[in-house]
Amino acid sequence: MSIKKKDPDRFDPEVINRELLQFLDESPVSFYAVKNMAAELEKAGAGRLTETGRWQLEAGKMYYVTRNDSSLIAFRVPAGSFSDSAAPVSGNAAGAKDAACADGKDTPAGFQIVASHCDSPAFKIKSNAEITVEKRYITLNVEKYGGMLCEPWFDRPLSVAGRVMIRTKEGIETRLVCIDRDLMIIPHLAIHMNREANDGYKINVQKDMLPLLAENGSGEKAGGTGSCGAPEKDAAGRFLQLIAAEAGVQPEDILDTDLFLYNRAKGTVLGLNGEFIASGRLDDLQCAYASLRGFLAAEASCGIAVHCVYDNEEVGSGTKQGAASTFLSDVLHRINGALGGDEEDYIRRIRTSFLVSADNAHGVHPNYTEKTDPTNRPFLNGGIVIKYSANQKYTTDAVSGALFREVCRRAGVPCQTFHNRSDMLGGSTLGNISTSQVAVNSVDIGLAQLAMHSSYETAGAYDTAYLAEALKTFYSLSVEARGDGSFRLR
Ligand code: CO
Repeated sequence: MSIKKKDPDRFDPEVINRELLQFLDESPVSFYAVKNMAAELEKAGAGRLTETGRWQLEAGKMYYVTRNDSSLIAFRVPAGSFSDSAAPVSGNAAGAKDAACADGKDTPAGFQIVASHCDSPAFKIKSNAEITVEKRYITLNVEKYGGMLCEPWFDRPLSVAGRVMIRTKEGIETRLVCIDRDLMIIPHLAIHMNREANDGYKINVQKDMLPLLAENGSGEKAGGTGSCGAPEKDAAGRFLQLIAAEAGVQPEDILDTDLFLYNRAKGTVLGLNGEFIASGRLDDLQCAYASLRGFLAAEASCGIAVHCVYDNEEVGSGTKQGAASTFLSDVLHRINGALGGDEEDYIRRIRTSFLVSADNAHGVHPNYTEKTDPTNRPFLNGGIVIKYSANQKYTTDAVSGALFREVCRRAGVPCQTFHNRSDMLGGSTLGNISTSQVAVNSVDIGLAQLAMHSSYETAGAYDTAYLAEALKTFYSLSVEARGDGSFRLR
């Protein structure tokens, strides 16, 4: 009688989901996702680099760098990257330095990149946010960050997280703040006062979505003023006081803020057999986390493994730390330079590099099966979704699709395909934006999920492990382009 044992070398779906859900709970906004990824990287021995410092890299070591505290790139320098492990050599000798991998050829090692994003749609708190309503309530003025479903933000405990810039003796300092308690709510209007509420009511963010923070004068002694005990003291300034206290400073020392609402509901495993997970921000922290775990578990290879997580995908990627920025190309240039490569080597490295753009995908919805393409039907727990678009909104083509399918086969992980219905526009992602800065072979993938851009999304309980496993295999490989339409994976 044989008992089927778990393979200790493979990711256990239950374990990695538990860790993913904890990561999601601790990462209410991009700043915290980056902070938590940096902590895991450091625990695994990665060295921290700064963009303003001079880079000296050692063969076989991992490093990471952040931009704006909200985007992060980590990479692993292959062993044998230097002819003499102590010091980089200069000139166009990069090929010779990769001798262990060159196999008689002088092609320098390429980059094995996985890019995902760590921002999610949310409501951002405006400047001068407090609004006093009829002297009784304090609400906050908010605006949309990204294109969310507004409806799932109603009638649930919310709180606030982000960063504040504070004045110090030396200048200005960044502090992250997260109010870790149920703090606010956006109450729906009762059905009795809006009989059309279930018939396609149009939501106006400025009117409908302002969260209720406080009763005006709350915290004061009740009953001391008007005949019915109506509080009169204005609570204005309380929100900033709360944020200042959390940051450990005085309100007047706060120079500016980037603060967002977040859903307080914790991530969970559900379904009759525990086959689903649900949480805020699965798009795209599920992919970002699987990429991190695959990166950390990968074996050293001839390729330069690059784990890249961008901010601002949900608002078009056009910021200094977004996929349209120079962040990735700056980092790749500097790695090439630190390995002793010149511009010629950089271009050769790029031509033999590969990008996996990992952003969650739409699974077939049980109540709206007609919304999915008739012949490409990705399901939750069906494995990694490879996304195609004839007009190249997704970067996958026959070459990159074939290469990635081969990676999945080697990893022992199922994959499936996604196309938009031909009468539907679909969303955008970061692959084609990133390749406009770093033009490499690229595939767009993701994990199937439901309710994308809700404040609480649903995905498959087996898929996180599938993606981590496939990306571990990808990061352990070197995809080498021979320039004649053939490729070697090793
Ligand atoms: Co996304």
